[in-house]
Amino acid sequence: MGRKQIDRIGVLTSGGDAPGMNAAIRAVVRAGVYYNKEVYGIFRGYEGLIDGDIERFTARRVSNIINRGGTILKTARSERFRTPEGRKQAYQNLRRYGIDALAVIGGDGSFRGLKVFADEFDFPVVGIPATIDNDINGTDFSVGFDTASNTAMDAIDKIRDTASSHNRLFFIEVMGRNSGFLALYSGIAGGAEDILIPEENRGLNELLFQLKRSKRSGKTSSIVVVAEGDKTGENVFELARYIEENLKEYEVRVVIIGHIQRGGSPTTFDRVLASRFGVKAVEALLDHHTKVATGYRNNDVIIYPLEEAIQAPKKVSTKLFPLIEILTT
Ligand code: F6P
Repeated sequence: MGRKQIDRIGVLTSGGDAPGMNAAIRAVVRAGVYYNKEVYGIFRGYEGLIDGDIERFTARRVSNIINRGGTILKTARSERFRTPEGRKQAYQNLRRYGIDALAVIGGDGSFRGLKVFADEFDFPVVGIPATIDNDINGTDFSVGFDTASNTAMDAIDKIRDTASSHNRLFFIEVMGRNSGFLALYSGIAGGAEDILIPEENRGLNELLFQLKRSKRSGKTSSIVVVAEGDKTGENVFELARYIEENLKEYEVRVVIIGHIQRGGSPTTFDRVLASRFGVKAVEALLDHHTKVATGYRNNDVIIYPLEEAIQAPKKVSTKLFPLIEILTT
């Protein structure tokens, strides 16, 4: 725990954007101003920190953004921040502006860089989990996940209409390079016949078995939700080809929902979560906590070590797996 008084707080968004990041920025800025501190917006993530792309933010500067997707601070995945030279430059810019603490809104990659930086310069930092992947360890939910899973579910609902009209089988790819949360939640909510995720490769035969079973049970159309990082096939098109060749009764189509899942107005849940995280992050810094992340557990907002947040990606709940089989009977 550092003990130097905090007068100026910097805030940035980093990594893939997530709906609700703006609500988190707003909360950090407003909480900082509420506690009579100065808050500085840093643009383009760690890239802007290295380049000195920094602006003093007033409470009014964040008006009318709570409802907006994306991030007004813009974001980036910074290669330069991975280098000691880049981080040194970033530190010098913080010193130049007299910024004595940093709040980073982003995912596990961003937190990893933040931890290295904080260790290197003994600089007070806090991480605010925001990623549609929901894969940050130690928090039940990350900002953006609820909105993204609702967006994916809406798309699945629409595809269901056309799937059932044509008696077709659809493979729908949702985002998640290393994580199956989005696929699991949107798949269960969208009534998917099967859900394929990177964490659990059940193999092509098992998928075929499941689809044959559903055909036998009288279903005329089906939806399979596939996470982007799933390894059951080479990619979603190969999966579709395999099933089409081995299950001639079905006409198969593929839809990749893509970056639509990253945009859009955040849900109530994400706005409230982001607001609570932002305020908690500022309070944590002012209480001289450092190298912590804000988290959501048991309907409460907490802080916990950044180390725990980055030690490994959060595991999907295996409790959901049996549900899929039961619900697709
Ligand atoms: O981490 C969020 C995420 O949307 C992943 O689900 C996805 O694999 C990745 O970002 C895509 O990254 P990019 O927008 O850089 O292509």
